[in-house]
Amino acid sequence: MCDMGHHHDHEGFGFLVDTPEIRALIDEVARVTRTIPADAERVHALRPAFAKLLAAENWLPDECSRPDDKSRMGGGIAQYALYRAEGGSLTLFSLVVPAGAATPVHDHLAWGLVGIYRGRQDETVYRRLDDGSDPARATLEIAERRTLDQGEFYSLLPPADDIHFVKTVSDTPSISIHLLANDTACIWRHRFDPDLGSVMPFRSGYANAPCPPDEATGEKI
Ligand SMILES: [Fe+2]
Repeated sequence: MCDMGHHHDHEGFGFLVDTPEIRALIDEVARVTRTIPADAERVHALRPAFAKLLAAENWLPDECSRPDDKSRMGGGIAQYALYRAEGGSLTLFSLVVPAGAATPVHDHLAWGLVGIYRGRQDETVYRRLDDGSDPARATLEIAERRTLDQGEFYSLLPPADDIHFVKTVSDTPSISIHLLANDTACIWRHRFDPDLGSVMPFRSGYANAPCPPDEATGEKI
């Protein structure tokens, strides 16, 4: 757990890591959610507050900065919830990708901001060419490859540029910080095999907080 040993809101919601830096960002999300109805404008308005969190030091506990050998994504990749809104409208989480490891190709299904806190990542973004009518199939082609260093970040506004994978190219684990408008690790989203053209539903799960049981199967992660 990276909940710093305190008792928190039930079932891993609320501030799992409670620091002034995280509170400042979540307060700003609440402010822009009240005042800016359009996703694109709201994400743009959040950029300064997000940059400030990435630039700040000593707010991410070591317990939320470590690989996870029980990872559902493989490769020791760990996803730690830092803040989760009850009802699933917002999550702040850290993603730890060990040196040389790569995530599956995946989507996010929510607007948000993603940036590098430690290390360096190569990101490969895919463009989808089919119409999505077959839930098991996707035709993807590479749209962009780029390298992201500490402090660099990008906006997500699905469906544009929502399918990607990242690989750590620093010799230490990369840690990226995600602010997304869903309960990212608990919702059913998709992993893709671009070579086979296949799509698989998946839930990545948090290393430090349980997901609500799946409505259809009761599966707990
Ligand atoms: Fe991602």
